[in-house]
Amino acid sequence: MKLDLPREEVFSLLKRLSDSVGPSGNEGSVRELVIDEMRRVADELRVDTLGNVVAVKKGTRGGGKLMLAAHMDEIGLFVSHIDERGFLRILPIGGVPERSLVYQRVLIKTRDGRIYRGVIGLKPPHVIKPEELRQVPEMKEFFVDIGASSREEVLSMGVRVGDIAVFDRELSVLTGDRVTGKAIDDRVGLAVMLKSFEVIESAELDVYAVATVQEEVGLKGAEVAAYSITPDVALALDVTIASDFPGVSEHEWCTQLGKGPAIKVADGRSASGLIAHPEIVKMLVKTAEESGIPYQMEVLAGGTTDASVIALNKEGVPAGVISIPSRYIHSPVEVIDLKDVLNAIKLTKAFAEKTTHEWVSSLKERRIK
Ligand code: CO
Ligand code: ZN
Repeated sequence: MKLDLPREEVFSLLKRLSDSVGPSGNEGSVRELVIDEMRRVADELRVDTLGNVVAVKKGTRGGGKLMLAAHMDEIGLFVSHIDERGFLRILPIGGVPERSLVYQRVLIKTRDGRIYRGVIGLKPPHVIKPEELRQVPEMKEFFVDIGASSREEVLSMGVRVGDIAVFDRELSVLTGDRVTGKAIDDRVGLAVMLKSFEVIESAELDVYAVATVQEEVGLKGAEVAAYSITPDVALALDVTIASDFPGVSEHEWCTQLGKGPAIKVADGRSASGLIAHPEIVKMLVKTAEESGIPYQMEVLAGGTTDASVIALNKEGVPAGVISIPSRYIHSPVEVIDLKDVLNAIKLTKAFAEKTTHEWVSSLKERRIK
């Protein structure tokens, strides 16, 4: 299939986003990139109190509101202690699996914007018991070595308790359309939102593209953004699990790389997740089929997205999710297929242009008597 958008353009945007340092609550450098992209194409642009970026494109028959949401934050670490010999202790920001930290390089960002490299060291195999060699350390056992020899030296570098760190990993191409890096969750959703927002041409409804903060620590930015916007319909753009690799049985893959964006049916566990609005699921399927966009259906056992809180805004919002299949999420080696990204952009654009006032009203409160 011919892709309308230059692959290199999408890759370079994704690389700028993914390589930025922006754990939950400290999304500033990602926000600057988003504002730069949105400035050219939005009719209105604002940053709210929590730091969400809200871009508006006026519809041809405005009044109704379609909200797109993709989160800017990534999982990361807080510096929680600096010891006398200059080692940093850390605490997680969001869901950081301990085993993703073993022997990693990290980038520390100070409150005045300086960036330092550090490594997460461990005792070498020569000095530990054989059983210890097979175990993943607990969070409290990890430390970061930034090359300093004393607390004074660390402080003179400007590093303080409360500063932040993320994986040190640049987005790179594996082969063909497969790329790997950190924070692909959810900088790829952000890239899909920015690019689709840019190319949306004749949507009836006003389109609100919201780059949210603090998703990884409880969907916080999306909650206040939805409250302020009061959308009539909403789509989150985020990664989903693709466990199509050795050691996972086929029925647990969830999605596969390169088979198209996933249309979410449900995610999360019991009370915390989303059951996508069935009419949105139907409309996304219809849109994909009519536009010749490959897609897969997604029923995810764990994890969720901004759509879960947007759906519960005020009197309720019909909500769905377009997901980008991603392997090894919440690690420094996340892997996606750029074909899925390009197709997710097309699907988002097509959905926005297909959404009519009539259809949206048919999803809303009906008076029976
Ligand atoms: Co995540
Ligand atoms: Zn995410």
